[in-house]
Amino acid sequence: MEPISVLSSLPDALLPWYEAHHRVLPWRETREPYRIWLSEIMLQQTRVEAVKGYYTRFLQAVPTVAALAECPDDTLHKLWEGLGYYSRVRNLKKAAGIIMSEYGGIFPQEYTQVLALPGIGEYTAGAICSIAFNLPTPAVDGNVLRVVSRLTDDPSPIDLPATKAKVRQALEQVYPPDAGTFTQALMELGATLCGPNWKPQCVDCPCQSFCLGNLSGSAERLPVKSPKKAKRQEERTVFILCCEGRYALRRRPEQGLLAGLWEFPNVSGCLDTRQALSAVEQLGLKPTQLLREVSRTHIFTHIQWNMRGIYLEVAQPAEAFHWFTPEQIRTQTALPTAFRQFWEEIQDV
Ligand code: ADE
Repeated sequence: MEPISVLSSLPDALLPWYEAHHRVLPWRETREPYRIWLSEIMLQQTRVEAVKGYYTRFLQAVPTVAALAECPDDTLHKLWEGLGYYSRVRNLKKAAGIIMSEYGGIFPQEYTQVLALPGIGEYTAGAICSIAFNLPTPAVDGNVLRVVSRLTDDPSPIDLPATKAKVRQALEQVYPPDAGTFTQALMELGATLCGPNWKPQCVDCPCQSFCLGNLSGSAERLPVKSPKKAKRQEERTVFILCCEGRYALRRRPEQGLLAGLWEFPNVSGCLDTRQALSAVEQLGLKPTQLLREVSRTHIFTHIQWNMRGIYLEVAQPAEAFHWFTPEQIRTQTALPTAFRQFWEEIQDV
């Protein structure tokens, strides 16, 4: 069967199901473009449960596009601290500047204008335009690809751009007038009954009577994905240096991974204790006590950091670093999770 004839049954099945079963989420209380935009950026590669608190806190501090365009980078980084992929918040601010200067502060309402903003790809543009402006623009992410692969019993690998384009074009043709609700309903099905980490719950699914994957019994084996590339492994030694109750931090470079955020001083390679003490001396510091050593990993998109954290008391605060109290680290510095896990090790959190 042609995918379109299967997908054309979707709106009538999905919309009533969504009305009856959807999760109540803070960004579903609104169609205001700024709020929808912020939610979709936060939800890129981040779980709904993790986003909820950040979303509410961010909107309280930065309630409008105008406020975002003016907000200092340090404040934005602090509001984003722990969410990861910090380029997202830098792009939000850049895009807010463009909305102020080119669109008089009004969020643009055409798909191509939205797509042209920094940090907004086809998925996010589709989500914003359908949810905020009711345009028939599908938002095709991994969840929606899984749902459509199963509905159409299609084994095309979902990581291929051609598969995504095919799914987007097929969905465009079946979009109902209530585009925003349909987008959210598709996402909801892909996050719940047809979710990524469990067997498809076909017996409860509103699409069970026309889903080709369910009817043929292959839903559980779909979607198909190409084999993943292994992540690059990097070893790092991280120094948690304490001098009279203050801790050494430095800023990361303005370009590259975790750009402009704070970090504990660290060097490439996995140093043993003797090498680590000597490296600290080379930084101009005099270690007086070895407090503890722990190993931690942090996984980025393409790299995995395997880190050894070495906690030292030092005699003099070297000028190369900023020396912060625990209260300042808590309230003023954006310390990304890769490093924060060493900090939490010694806090009562
Ligand atoms: N994932 C991406 N966008 C989402 C949304 N609007 N609601 C729930 N999960 C999502």
